[in-house]
Amino acid sequence: MLQTLTFLFLTSTSLVQSICHKGCDLALASYYTVPAGNDINSISKFINTSPTNILKYNPNTTFRPFTRINLPFRCDCIAHEFLGHVFNYVLTSVDIYETIAQERYANLTTADWIQRFNYYDPNRVPDGSNVNVTVNCSCGDGSVSREYGLFLTYPLRPGETLHSVSWAANLSSELIRSYNPDANFSQGSGLVYIPWRDENGNYPPFKNSPESKLSGGAIGGIAIGVVAVVLFLAVCLYKGFCRKKNVETSASVLLQNDAQVQLTHVQGITPAKSVEFSYEELSTATFNFRLANKIGEGGFGAVYYAELRGQKAAIKKMDMQASRQFLAELKVLTQTHHLNLVRLIGYCVEDSLFLVYEYIENGNLSQHLHESVPEREPLPWFIRVQIALDSARGIEYIHEHTIPVGHVHCDIKSANILIDKYFQGKVADFGLTRLTKLGSKSHVAGTFGYMPPEYVQYGDVSPKVDVFAFGVVLYELISAKPAIIRANNPDAEAKGLVALFDEVLSQADPKDDLVQLVDPRLGDNYPLDSVYKMAQLAKACTHEDPRLRPSMRNVVVALMTLSSSSMEDWDPGSIYVDQTFSLMMRADNSNM
Ligand SMILES: Nc1ncnc2c1ncn2[C@@H]1O[C@H](COP(=O)(O)OP(=O)(O)OP(=O)(O)O)[C@@H](O)[C@H]1O
Ligand SMILES: *[C@@H]1O[C@H](CO)[C@@H](O)[C@H](O)[C@H]1NC(C)=O
Ligand SMILES: *[C@@H]1O[C@H](CO)[C@@H](O)[C@H](O)[C@H]1NC(C)=O
Ligand SMILES: *[C@@H]1O[C@H](CO)[C@@H](O)[C@H](O)[C@H]1NC(C)=O
Ligand SMILES: *[C@@H]1O[C@H](CO)[C@@H](O)[C@H](O)[C@H]1NC(C)=O
Ligand SMILES: *[C@@H]1O[C@H](CO)[C@@H](O)[C@H](O)[C@H]1NC(C)=O
Ligand SMILES: *[C@@H]1O[C@H](CO)[C@@H](O)[C@H](O)[C@H]1NC(C)=O
Repeated sequence: MLQTLTFLFLTSTSLVQSICHKGCDLALASYYTVPAGNDINSISKFINTSPTNILKYNPNTTFRPFTRINLPFRCDCIAHEFLGHVFNYVLTSVDIYETIAQERYANLTTADWIQRFNYYDPNRVPDGSNVNVTVNCSCGDGSVSREYGLFLTYPLRPGETLHSVSWAANLSSELIRSYNPDANFSQGSGLVYIPWRDENGNYPPFKNSPESKLSGGAIGGIAIGVVAVVLFLAVCLYKGFCRKKNVETSASVLLQNDAQVQLTHVQGITPAKSVEFSYEELSTATFNFRLANKIGEGGFGAVYYAELRGQKAAIKKMDMQASRQFLAELKVLTQTHHLNLVRLIGYCVEDSLFLVYEYIENGNLSQHLHESVPEREPLPWFIRVQIALDSARGIEYIHEHTIPVGHVHCDIKSANILIDKYFQGKVADFGLTRLTKLGSKSHVAGTFGYMPPEYVQYGDVSPKVDVFAFGVVLYELISAKPAIIRANNPDAEAKGLVALFDEVLSQADPKDDLVQLVDPRLGDNYPLDSVYKMAQLAKACTHEDPRLRPSMRNVVVALMTLSSSSMEDWDPGSIYVDQTFSLMMRADNSNM
C-alpha cells in the first residue's frame, strides 16, 4: 500500500510540473537509419508525412545506412500533460511494441510509452491494427534562453556523451545540459532535446512560453486532477484492491480521452461507419457523370473522379443492380480498413449500383509497368519491392483478418493494385468477385494469366488462388512483361509469364538467364540477388500444387526480409534519393 501511495503521489506531482497548454508547429526527430531497410519511403509512412517534406529538412544528407536524418512533425501538448505527437502506425505481422519502438521508430519512443496510448493487449495486437505511437518533443524553455524555439528529439546512442552531442550540434555543453537537466548523457540511451536549425539554416526564436503561462482554467484543472487522484486513492484504500497496474491503466485511459482532441489531424483514423450516398449527391459531384471526370473503364463499368464531402473519391458506376445479399456484404466491406486495401467509403443503390472508393492518385501497377509513357520514370527496384510488400499485406489482411476469416480476393492482378501518392501499393476491388457470384450466372471470376490450374479446371477456390496470382504479379514486377505474352508470330502460341520464368528458374544456374528477363528499363540499377530471391518467391507462389504454395503470411515475412536487405547490396546514395525525389515530386504535382 505504501508503494502505491508513493506512486500516486509521484504521478500527481509530475502532472503538475510538466503541465503544458500549447505545443508548437514544428519539432524534429533524429532518426538513425538502422537497419538499412528503413528507407525514406517507409520512414515517411511511420511519421505520416511525405518524403518530400522529409527531404526539405535534410538538404545535404545522403540517405544511407547508419546516418541520422531529421524528421519534421508537429509538437502537441497532449492532455495538458506533456509535449509529444501521436503517430499512426499500421502494425504488421512481425511487430511487437518493442520492435516498433526500437526498429521502426529508431528508439524515438519506448515500448512502455507506446503501450500507454493503446488499449490492446500488448501480447496480442492484431495484425494490421492502427497503433498510436507517441514521440516526445520540446518547444523550448523561455527561462533557459529565448534564442531557441526549434528542438530535435534525439535518442542517445551507445558511445555518445554530452560533449560529442554538443560538438555535433556546434553548441555549448552548458546550453544543452540546461535544456536536459535530468538526462544521463553517458548511458547510451534515452531522449534528449537539442536546439536545432530550421530549413533555412537559422535558429527560430522561442515563441511565447508554452510551459509557464498557466491559465486559471488549467490550474483549476490540475487541482481537480489532484483531488480526483486523491479520491481515487481513497476509494482504492477503502476497497483494498488497488494495485499499481490498475492505476496505470486508468491514468492512461484518462490520457487517451484528453488526447482525442489533439488527434483530429492524425491521418488514418476514420470512424468505421457505412455511408449511403444519394444519386443526386454523386451526380452533382461528377457534374452529371461527365466525360471529363471519367478516369477509367473496367469489367464492371465506368469509374469517375469526384470530390465528395471534402474528400477525393473514385465512383464506380456498376452495370448491374445489387442483390439484397450483396447489399449486406457491402456494409461489411465499408467496415474493412487496412492501409493496403483501397477503402470503400460508401455506396448508392438508387437507379443502378454505385460504389464510392477513396481516390488513389497514381494509377495502377499495370500502367506503371506496361505502358511505357516516355516521361514517366520506371519504378526503381526498391519501390517495386515495397509495392510487392504493401500488396502482400493487403491480401494477407483479406485472408486472415476479415470476418468471417478466409475471404479470397479472386482477382489479384497488377491492374488491381493501385499506387498512391507516396507510392504505396493498395489492393483494389476486394469483394467484387462476390458480386458476380451472387449475381445471376455461374460465371468464373478472374483474369487469364493469373488463375491457377485448380481454379481453371475445377473452380476450386481457396486463399491459394490469390497466392498464385500474386506470384504472377511478382514476375511482372521483375520483368515488366504482361501475364500472358503474345507471340510475335501469329501462328505461335501465346506464353504465360509463369511458364517463361519456370523454364529459366529450373536451370542449375539460372542467374545469367534471369538477367535477360529483368525489365530493361531498370538498366543495371538493381541488386541481382534481390531479384533472384523475388523470382524464387514467385516460383513458390505459382507452384502447381496449391498445398505447396506458401500462405500470404509467409509471403509477407519473406518480402519484409527482402525489403530490409534490398538496400544492403548496393549503394543507396544518390540514385536512390534522386529517383524517389523525382517520383515524389511527380506525385505531388499530379493532383487532379
Ligand atoms: N479508387 C480508385 N482511385 C483511382 N483510380 C481508380 C480507382 N479505382 C479504379 N481506378 C482506375 O479506374 C480504372 C478502371 O478500374 P476498374 O477496377 O473498374 O477496372 P479494372 O480493375 O481495370 O478491371 P476489372 O473491373 O476487371 O477489375 C483503372 O484503370 C483504375 O486505375
Ligand atoms: C547544402 O549545400 C549547398 C551547396 O552544396 C550549400 O549552399 C548549403 O548552404 C548547404 N545547406 C546546409 C543546410 O548545409
Ligand atoms: C535502439 O536501442 C536498442 C537497444 O539499446 C538497440 O539495440 C538498437 O540498435 C537501437 N536502434 C537504433 C535504430 O538505434
Ligand atoms: C515522454 O515524456 C513523459 C512525460 O515527461 C515521460 O513520462 C515519458 O517517459 C517520456 N517518454 C520517453 C520515451 O522518453
Ligand atoms: C489511439 O488514440 C485514440 C485517441 O486518443 C483513441 O481513440 C484510440 O482508441 C487509440 N487506439 C488504441 C488502439 O488504443
Ligand atoms: C559553430 O558556432 C560558431 C559560433 O557559435 C560559429 O562561429 C561557427 O561558424 C560554427 N561552426 C559551424 C561549422 O557551423
Ligand atoms: C549514467 O549511466 C551510466 C551507464 O549506464 C551509469 O554508469 C551512471 O551511473 C549513470 N549516471 C547517473 C548520474 O545516473
